[in-house]
Amino acid sequence: MEKLNALKGFKDLLPGESEKWEWVASAVRKTFHAFGFSPIRTPILERTRLFTRSIGETTDIVEKEMYTFEDWDGKPVTLRPEGTASVVRAFLEHRHQILALPAKFYYQGPMFRHERPQAGRLRQFHQVGAEIIGEIDPEQDVELLSLLSYFFQRIGISDLTLEINSLGCTVCRPPYRAALQGYFGAQLDTLCEDCNRRFHQNPLRILDCKKESCKAITTDAPASANHLCQECDAHFKAVQEGLSSLKLPFVISKHLVRGLDYYTKTAFEMTTQNLGAQNAVAAGGRYDGLVEALGGASTPAIGFAMGMERLMQLLPESDIRYSALQLFIVPLGEAAHQHVFPVLYDLRRKNIRSEIGKSGAALKKQMKQADRLNAAFVLIVGEQEMEMGKAVLRNMKTKEQVEIELFNLLEGVIAQISP
Ligand code: HAM
Repeated sequence: MEKLNALKGFKDLLPGESEKWEWVASAVRKTFHAFGFSPIRTPILERTRLFTRSIGETTDIVEKEMYTFEDWDGKPVTLRPEGTASVVRAFLEHRHQILALPAKFYYQGPMFRHERPQAGRLRQFHQVGAEIIGEIDPEQDVELLSLLSYFFQRIGISDLTLEINSLGCTVCRPPYRAALQGYFGAQLDTLCEDCNRRFHQNPLRILDCKKESCKAITTDAPASANHLCQECDAHFKAVQEGLSSLKLPFVISKHLVRGLDYYTKTAFEMTTQNLGAQNAVAAGGRYDGLVEALGGASTPAIGFAMGMERLMQLLPESDIRYSALQLFIVPLGEAAHQHVFPVLYDLRRKNIRSEIGKSGAALKKQMKQADRLNAAFVLIVGEQEMEMGKAVLRNMKTKEQVEIELFNLLEGVIAQISP
């Protein structure tokens, strides 16, 4: 019979790994909360038009990566390939409920892109993202980048580079576009077929081409930062000054463009040398025109998203403090079992992760199970112990043993095993 395995590019997350994800998710909640962000959840399925309009018709995502299908009523719907468009849609849909600007949201959840799966690249992947809507001040850019930098520091990931660039705005983008066309126009024969198409539709995309032959040509292409209008130039400088004032290191990456078309002014990526080809762990930027493009009033915004799978690959083992089993109870015989079974319930209600062995099983077998479950402590209650009114608590790491009075078992155990 055909095996019903998961689809290519879709992955199960199993215990062992899933606890690490929970640990990161809880660090996200604490950090993003402190930086003033509130959680938002938007649907995974949206109208296709939301993404084509926001991400851009000529991007790889919209051209060839979206999971789009007809809903039962015949209307095209898409599994979200990213979170920003949905957050902006939700912001506009519930605008009347949002009293104070800027509105600061964060989210964690699955995204879907039909890419060629490889290490660090999946078809269902997970992002943690943050969006600030309603503030143009460059200080917001700095605050957002400080959150991103601090978060990685907090979870123990170092060796990251913050690369920044400015992509300009509706005023300075057209002359920059023209400068790029002027430069690439003389080299169309050498550029790949895709880039020849990009040349007319969206020449900035050529800077993002992964083909070696195109990459060689882009090295000397004009840089957007040299074509900024006065306002964008001042903004970019203020962002750099703000980062320096917080002592946050960064490099200017003059050809950094993003795979989505909504960006204006500041664009950035957090990159690493430790992930092979998929070197961006997080990325984002300003998108001052998107709210308006989706039907709202002109409202500036900025955000980022990081890829959980890539982040997990970088997480140092020693920093993962997920909860193993704290206590395994070994009852030997029915009387012992009856005595400790209610204690198991009490322990769990005190948030102590505990399990119990089968009372009919031999000591050796139960100890083996405790080992398999990686229990930090084992509580042994046998016939002899019952007679003496005492149980034995063993620290599985140090092998030290202490006796605990049966009449005061719960408190006695807690006093010993609580860190
Ligand atoms: P993005 O650069 O498309 O931006 O994705 C952000 C991050 O998601 C990437 O840096 C990467 O870590 C992860 N990622 C993307 N595609 C995959 C994949 N196929 N497999 C695994 N990880 C992946 C955005 O999505 C924007 N919405 C970011 C943003 C928020 N800009 C403003 N606000």
